Amino acid sequence: MPLPYNERTHDCGALRGADVGKTVLLAGWVDNFRDLGGMVFIDLRDRGGITQLRFDPTTDPKAHEVARSLRSEYVICVRGEVVHRGEKVNPNLPTGEIEVKAHEIDLLSKSKTPPYLIADEIETNEDLRLQTRFLDLRRTPVKRALMMRHRITKTIRDYFDRHGFLDVETPILTKSTPEGARDYLVPSRLEHGSFYALPQSPQLFKQLLMIGGMDRYMQIARCFRDEDLRADRQPEFTQVDVEMAFVQPENVMGHVEACLAEVIREAIGVEIKLPLPRISYAEAMKSYGRDAPDLRYGMTIKDVTEIAKKTDFKVFREPIDAGGVVRCIVVERGSEMTRKETDGLTEEIKGIGAGGLPLVKVAEEGGNVVFQTGIAKFLENEDVKKGLIEATGAKVGDLIMFAAGSEATVCKHLGWLRSTVAERRNLIPENQWAMCWVVDFPLFGYDDEEKAVYPMHHPFTSPKDEDLHLMRVGSDEIPPKEDILKVRAKAYDVVLNGIELGGGSIRIHRSDVQGKVFKLLGLSDEEARVKFQFLMEALQFGAPPHGGIALGLDRIVMLLGGFDSIRDVIAFPKVASGACPLTEAPSEVTTRQLRELGLDRLRT
Ligand code: AMO
Repeated sequence: MPLPYNERTHDCGALRGADVGKTVLLAGWVDNFRDLGGMVFIDLRDRGGITQLRFDPTTDPKAHEVARSLRSEYVICVRGEVVHRGEKVNPNLPTGEIEVKAHEIDLLSKSKTPPYLIADEIETNEDLRLQTRFLDLRRTPVKRALMMRHRITKTIRDYFDRHGFLDVETPILTKSTPEGARDYLVPSRLEHGSFYALPQSPQLFKQLLMIGGMDRYMQIARCFRDEDLRADRQPEFTQVDVEMAFVQPENVMGHVEACLAEVIREAIGVEIKLPLPRISYAEAMKSYGRDAPDLRYGMTIKDVTEIAKKTDFKVFREPIDAGGVVRCIVVERGSEMTRKETDGLTEEIKGIGAGGLPLVKVAEEGGNVVFQTGIAKFLENEDVKKGLIEATGAKVGDLIMFAAGSEATVCKHLGWLRSTVAERRNLIPENQWAMCWVVDFPLFGYDDEEKAVYPMHHPFTSPKDEDLHLMRVGSDEIPPKEDILKVRAKAYDVVLNGIELGGGSIRIHRSDVQGKVFKLLGLSDEEARVKFQFLMEALQFGAPPHGGIALGLDRIVMLLGGFDSIRDVIAFPKVASGACPLTEAPSEVTTRQLRELGLDRLRT
C-alpha cells in the first residue's frame, strides 16, 4: 500500500521536542543525504523547513534500502516516529531537537542532478538561477521573500478592507496611461494596425471609479513600463493602488502611513512613530540633493554661496556669476580618507558630469584651524575660513567636499556624493527605518533639451489652490516660464531609507483647470481629447474632489526583507535586458500569428 501523501501530518518545519513519540507522515525533497556506514540520515525539505530523517538497517531494513538509493532533490514520503536527538541536538535548526525514525518510505519522484547546489548561500550566477527558477524557489531566501510578500500583501488588504476600501480590478488590455514611460503594446487581431497598451498604472480607471461614486478604492495592481531596468525597477511590477473621494492630502497620507506602520510591525516587528515627518521638495533637494532623502544619517548639504563669493577661486566664482550656487558636505573624520579614495570619488563624480571634486581637509596648526590639501590655497582668507567653519560646523579631522554650478547640477552631484560616501565609509546605521513624506513638489518640470514643460507627477495632479493664479486659470493667457515652474502641486511621496516607496496626489476635478494644465504642457485640445477623452468627458459629469497614491509593493518587500533588488522578491522576474531567462520571453512567433495580427510585413 503506498503511503497516503495527501494525509501529511506536519510540514518539515513543524516538529518540536513536544512531539516526541508521535507517528508522523511527512513529504518533501531530499536536501541532504548522509550514509554513515549503516545508518542513513536524510534532511527532508519542504516550504516549512527541514526535518532530519533516520533510517536504521536493523529495525527497518526495507526503508533503509530505499533510503540508500536516494539522491538530492528526489521527492519522497515517509512515515515514522518522532524521537529526541539526545546529545546531537542542532540548535541552528527549528526542528533540531528531534529527528524522525522512518519506518516506511515511498519514492514519489526522481530528480536529475541539479545544475547547482540548492543551499541558502550560493555563488551561482543569477541568470542560471532564474533559468531554473523552479529549483531556486526551493532555497530559503527565495521562499522567505515570497512568504514575506504574502504576509505584507495580506496586511495591506486587511487594512484597507477594515477602512471601507473596495478592491476593484481594472483592465490590463487598455489605452496608453500617463506615467511617462514607454508603453508595452498589444496588437489587435480584429482591427489591424490598432493596439492596446498595457497599463503603466490604473491611474485613469481609479479616477473614473471615483467619478462613478465608488468612494474608496484599492487594488494590488500589475503595472507595465517599458523603461531601463535597475535594482528597484522591473518592466512588470506591482502597485498598491489607492484612491479616495472627498479628501485632502492629509487624509490619503494618514491612511498610507498607518497602513505602512502596520505592515512594518507585522513584517519585522518594528514600531514606526507617526505621524511621519514631512519635508518640502525644496528642502529635500537643498539639504539632501534628492527628492527621496535618506534620513538615516546626517551629512546634510550646506549652502556656502555667500562665503564662496568672497574668494577668487574661478571654479566657485564663474558658476556664481552665472546665477549658480556653491554647496558642500562635511565628511566627519574624512581627513583619514586616502588619496586613492578621494581620487576615485573625483573620477566617479566626473562620470556624472562634474568638472572635478574640490575638497579640503580641516586640520590644526599651532592651535589654529587650517585647511589643507585640495583647494586649501584658495580659501586662505581668514574671513572665508571662519565663515566656512561656521556655516558647516566642520571640526578638525573632517573633510569638506564642494560642488559649484547650477542649482540642479549641484543637487545631483552632492546628492550622489552624500550617499556614496555614507555607504563606502559605513556611515549608514543598520536596522534603522527612516521614513518621511516629501510634499510641495513643483507641478511642472522643464526639459532643457526638449525645451518643453512636463508634468512632474502626471497631468491630472492638482495645483495648490494658492498657486492657481500663477497658471492664469480662467484666462487664455500663457504665463511666463518662471511662473509656471513656481506652481506647486498637491502631491506627496513617501520615502523609506532614501527610496521612494510611493507617490500620489490630489487630482484635478475641474475641467477648466485640467484644460489649462494640458495647454501649459503643450497638448492641444485635440491631442488631449484623443489621449484622455474618456476622462475629460467624465470630469464634466460631476467629479468629486479626489486623490490617491500608489506604493511600489516590490520595493516595500525588498526593503523590509533586506534584499538588494526587487528581482529577489518577485517569483518570476525579468533580467536587465527585459527578458525572462526561464520562459525565454520575449520570443519569436509564427508567421501565421503575425498574419492574423496584420503584422506579417514585419517578418524579413
Ligand atoms: P508612480 O509612477 O510614482 O505613480 O509609481 C508609484 C510607485 O510605483 C513604484 N514603481 C516601480 N516599481 C518597480 N518597477 C518600476 N518600473 C516602477 N515604477 C514605479 C514606485 C513608485 O513610487 N498613478 C501614479 C500614482 C498616483 O498618482 O496615485 C503612479 O503610478 O515605488
